[in-house]
Formats: sequence, C-alpha cells, structure tokens
Amino acid sequence: MNWLALEKQVIEIVYKTGAFIREAAAKFNRSDIEFKQGFNNLVSYVDKEAELRLVNELSKLIPGSGFLAEEGTHSKSTSGLTWIIDPLDGTTNFMHGAPPYAISIGLAEGDVLKLGVVYEITRDECFHASEGNPARCNNRIIHVSPVQALNESLLATGFPYYHSDKKEAYLHIIKVFLEKTHGIRRLGSASVDLAYVACGRFEGFFEYNLNPWDVAGGALIVQQAGGIVSDFQGGKNFLHGGELVAAGGIHREMVDVIKPIWFSGL
Ligand code: IPD
Ligand code: CA
Ligand code: CA
Repeated sequence: MNWLALEKQVIEIVYKTGAFIREAAAKFNRSDIEFKQGFNNLVSYVDKEAELRLVNELSKLIPGSGFLAEEGTHSKSTSGLTWIIDPLDGTTNFMHGAPPYAISIGLAEGDVLKLGVVYEITRDECFHASEGNPARCNNRIIHVSPVQALNESLLATGFPYYHSDKKEAYLHIIKVFLEKTHGIRRLGSASVDLAYVACGRFEGFFEYNLNPWDVAGGALIVQQAGGIVSDFQGGKNFLHGGELVAAGGIHREMVDVIKPIWFSGL
C-alpha cells in the first residue's frame, strides 16, 4: 500500500467535509441540538451528515474496508483495514460556537494504526501521518516537544461525559499534575489534544473513558511525530481500552504519576 498517496486522498476528503462543517457552524442554532443519552452527550444533523459524507468517500478508496464510526456506521472489513472515524470531535464546542473541533480519521489493520488525519476546522490545521512517513501539520513536518521534565510541561486532559467509580482517582491524578506541571488545559477535543502533543504545543495528554474514534487518528500522528502512546499501565491497549497517555520525553514520568493512583482502589 502506498500510504503517502492514501494520506493525500484522505486529506482531500476531510477538507471537503470540513467545508461542510464550517458552513453549518455559521448557521447552527441551539434548537438543532439533539441528545444521545442524558443531558450532556450532544449530537446534531451536522455530526450525522459529516459521517455519511466521509464514509461514502472513504469507502471508494479501499474496497472492502470496514468502518467503526461514532454516529453508527459499523461494518466488518474484508480487506483487513478498518476506518475509525469521529466525524466531529469536539461536538459540544461546535454547538456552543467555541473552538476547537475536528474531523478525526484513523485507519487500522487489527489494532495496528496505519494512517491518521485530524483536521482542526477552526484554525484550518490538518495534522496527518502514516506508516513509514513523518507526522505533518499542513504539510510541514512536526515533532513532539523536546522537553524531558514534568515540571517544564504543559498538559492536556478531558472530562468524560460519564463518570465511573474512577472519578475520585482521576481527580486525584489531576491534583498531582497541577502541583507538578506548568498547568493543565481542557480543549474539548481529544483528537486535537493528541495533535497538539504531536506538534509540541502540549508535552502530554491523558484521559479516560475515550472511544476508539476519539484517539485512532491522533495516536498515530503522535507516534509518527516521535511520541509514545500507551494505556494507563504503560501498555499497548489504548485504542479500545478507554485510557490513554500520550507524550514525548515525559511519558514515563506521566505513567509513574497516573498508574499508582489509578490502580490504588481510590
Ligand atoms: C469528546 C471530546 C472530548 C473528550 C470526550 C469525547 P465528542 O468527543 O473528544 O474532548 O473529553 O471524552 O467524547 O463527543 O466531542 O465527539
Ligand atoms: Ca469524540
Ligand atoms: Ca463526535
């Protein structure tokens, strides 16, 4: 597979769908908001229409590819490759007119990521990478931050819509990081958090209760930018496991904070 050629084709597709989302943002009304589950998990015709457009175009690129997409497109792969899609990551931001929000696309063979594209619509920044090729932002090669120490770092995190019995442990991790870093940001789009780790704006990102479509595209971009992506144990189960830590030189230090608290039974 010529991954770089495929990367370019996917970028064309996200630009087109991104233009649709940008136009929709200009005329979006609060009355367009629908609720998936509960009062805080929002969706709209924009998420659904963007997914339909992406699936329609991407299915032409690799015959027999499967789909795992947030708004319901699930199909098995006969080619071994599966597109993992969040048509609008940062949907709450979008509905409140606040940046950032993005289209996130990953392509996986089993659990191995091959290609990732995260298009942050409000700043018109397209982050992309694929197997054997460097991570780029708008075609410029990017790298994770060279910073090696937690106390010189800016971190990002997210707050899940649903909290399990792990909420106390999570809040404790946030407290420790607040005391040991330059600060913590919560942008509202996990794929953008990952893209910002890839280009060195953030030294690290961690979150729990994530779905594969939140992380597939951005995780590969971090890896190809020289970073490490893991679960909270420091292991490899970040795509379907829900917990993720992504960073450059401070990855070990982050896991050393997260792991003992997360598994302490708090
Ligand atoms: C959400 C965003 C947010 C993260 C949530 C995700 P959505 O995705 O990525 O940053 O904290 O866990 O569910 O709902 O905007 O696609
Ligand atoms: Ca998402
Ligand atoms: Ca979404």
